[in-house]
Amino acid sequence: MRVVLGVGGGIAAYKAAELVRQLEQRGHDVQVVMTRAAREFIQPLTFAALTGKKVITDLFSGENANDTLASAVEHIGVAQNHDVLVVAPATADLLAKFATGQADDFLTTLHLAFTGAVVLAPSMNTAMWEHPATQQNLETLRARGCFVIQPDEGWLACGTTGAGRFPDPERIAAEVDLLTEQKKDLAGESVLITAGPTQEALDPVRYISNRSSGKMGFALAEAAARRGARVTLVAGPVHLNAPPNVRLIPVRTAQEMRRAVLESLESATIIIKSAAVADYYLAEVPKQKLKKTATRLSLELDPTPDILAEIGEKKGDRLLIGFAAETDNLIGEARRKMAAKHCDMLVANLVNREGLGFDSDRNEVDIITGSGKTVHAGPADKKEVAEKILDQVAMLRLSLSTAETKS
Ligand code: PMT
Repeated sequence: MRVVLGVGGGIAAYKAAELVRQLEQRGHDVQVVMTRAAREFIQPLTFAALTGKKVITDLFSGENANDTLASAVEHIGVAQNHDVLVVAPATADLLAKFATGQADDFLTTLHLAFTGAVVLAPSMNTAMWEHPATQQNLETLRARGCFVIQPDEGWLACGTTGAGRFPDPERIAAEVDLLTEQKKDLAGESVLITAGPTQEALDPVRYISNRSSGKMGFALAEAAARRGARVTLVAGPVHLNAPPNVRLIPVRTAQEMRRAVLESLESATIIIKSAAVADYYLAEVPKQKLKKTATRLSLELDPTPDILAEIGEKKGDRLLIGFAAETDNLIGEARRKMAAKHCDMLVANLVNREGLGFDSDRNEVDIITGSGKTVHAGPADKKEVAEKILDQVAMLRLSLSTAETKS
């Protein structure tokens, strides 16, 4: 791939040199563009030596163009001749300029003219990163389709510790690979995903919930968006940011999740129910905090609405993918739920193993496909498991549309 690397003016600018090495080692052809501020931190010569190409620094220098007209519109030529624009470090100033469409130097002008994939690797002081202006700019850029790589947490050059560290160059290069190798087999689909736990109130300060972190569902949402789908993610209370290009609807209770799912159902073509919805709730929540006494407390709980079963009844020609979290008789229980809730596919998840499933970065599942066969995925990072699940979803969609065309 032909990658333009825009280097912003932050203390982490020197780390972009390692990023160039990582990108080149993965076979990418890299052209570096530096802002004026970046040149205060590191010399263009470093990047020129690594890439074997002149570094672009000025809007009108024309150093990389061979006639006057080409030099005046060099940013257009560079935009047209590259597949990915990576900006690292993406400073707070650059994010603000990109978000508001400013074009006062080569990099900001290139960003406006660029029609390929844009990857931003922000790096800055924690307070600047957390400032609502920066977060709002990031939201704007995400909504426009930019891929934002979360900065690392740790010791920062300003002497504090927190979020804002330049992401590991290997991680940035891996994201660029994922983006450029991306299958687009879900293009044209509208995918509705549920994720995370629900919380059912017992009184104004207490609730029943479970250990779901939302990581499995968020990984599915991120992967589906990358594969070209329009994605709506209905998520219970979790500590995760919305993945790029995903519409996030936060909810708290099973009732709220049901409402959000039903409201989004009309436009969905695929529904994936990975949320761990609480099975019981307290119908009459006391207005005051329950008082502690020396005696035993009994509460009568009612079953929550089974959202998956309800969609199963009214799904029409939508694909419905359920999950089953089990601690024993995994496949037997999963097949029973798949039939009872009219799912086209079901992801069976054994959830009593250390380091897998609930609240972990990794998972291992059995995917029961439409034809009844079982496909194993993991143990692996949830992002990898999500890709394997979506491979099966895309295959099922393809086989159904082929069958439809034939009949
Ligand atoms: O969130 P993580 O920490 O990443 O963990 C991921 C996970 C373990 C939660 C996930 O992989 C998983 O297994 N999700 C399903 C959890 C679950 O509630 O399973 P279940 O067997 O209780 O429910 C079966 C299906 O019915 C699920 O699709 C569930 O979303 C749905 N359901 C259940 C109850 C209910 N009231 N409404 C529902 O729609």
